[in-house]
Amino acid sequence: MKYIEDFDVQNKKVILRLDLNVTIKDGVILDDTKIKKSIPTIKYLLNNNAKILIMSHLGKVKSEEDKLDKSLSIVAESLKNLMNEDVYFVNKTRGEELERALDNHRLVLMENTRFEDVDGKKESGCDEDLSSYWASLGEVFVNDAFGTTHRRHASNYGISTILPSAYGFLINEELIGLDPIINNIKRPFTVIMGGAKVDDKVALIETLLEESDYILVGGGIANTFLKSAGYNIGTSLYSEEYVDKISVLISKYQDKIIMPIDVVVKEYDQIYKTDINSITTDSAIYDIGDKTIAKYKEYIQKSETIFVNGTMGLYEDEHFRNGTEHLYQELSQVDAIKIAGGGDAVASINKLNYADVFDFLSTGGGATLEYIVEKHINCFGDK
Ligand code: 3PG
Repeated sequence: MKYIEDFDVQNKKVILRLDLNVTIKDGVILDDTKIKKSIPTIKYLLNNNAKILIMSHLGKVKSEEDKLDKSLSIVAESLKNLMNEDVYFVNKTRGEELERALDNHRLVLMENTRFEDVDGKKESGCDEDLSSYWASLGEVFVNDAFGTTHRRHASNYGISTILPSAYGFLINEELIGLDPIINNIKRPFTVIMGGAKVDDKVALIETLLEESDYILVGGGIANTFLKSAGYNIGTSLYSEEYVDKISVLISKYQDKIIMPIDVVVKEYDQIYKTDINSITTDSAIYDIGDKTIAKYKEYIQKSETIFVNGTMGLYEDEHFRNGTEHLYQELSQVDAIKIAGGGDAVASINKLNYADVFDFLSTGGGATLEYIVEKHINCFGDK
């Protein structure tokens, strides 16, 4: 796939795939990094007199009900304000209004591509007809959605097999910024893995264990690890389907997988710290404890390269912020290469004011993990 600067976009109708999948709570965008980082490519296209039809997903959409809070209209508003440009929002993923939008507007945002998943997973299944239909709305395709480069969906891979395609400035910045955790990695290389998207992470974790020296687990994913290691985790959320697989990994990679030894739990209205041997049936884990923080600090101190993917607890709630914040504090003290990736990790780093500590903040969560493992990007159809 070509780089946008080596590609003819002058006066063209451009389909621009962005990753505008931001976290929205009570109608408010919690972190707009992904939107801000998409602006250079939009500006470049506008400066080249192109007309732009932006496509993006937002969350997972499996039912009509899911559509209710997964509209990109809030994002259109944010983009309009950040760019000080008119953004024409089409609240559909097909139809006449969409087909004609570029006739009268130079910057259009289409509704969430995953609305097409409700009826037969057409976006996620990379449906050929849908890919052709979307491709027919433009003359060339620019992909700048780094966060979805690990997905072969209609709106990225599908269109790129049909239209002449290039990647934009954000993807280019990611390829450069992530290089220290892709090529010639300085060791020890430690991955701090938290957050909740266990499914995506488990699929990659075995290869990641081979690539890395230590994986420090926390957050929602740690619950599944603790359960797999045989601990009682009370009412904590975990993924039953991965327990067997993770048990095997824990035995095979005992020196590499580092798990919490104490945690912060909530039991009815009470919040308290406990060792992992003493978790009661009615409590749920929400953060790592002090002994775990001390143990993880030792690994951070001896690492030359550190990649943070996910938070250690429910950092949005100040009662469960300690683990995440203390590890960021420790990172600020060490002279290693420090990179973070993923929506929650980056949002927590920005919220807690630790962005300066990192050499690079990636917009990719699963995409970055897959890039570390595969060493190449999967969704370029290379037309
Ligand atoms: C992300 O937030 O990691 C990307 O937007 C990809 O989202 P997805 O995991 O829902 O495909």
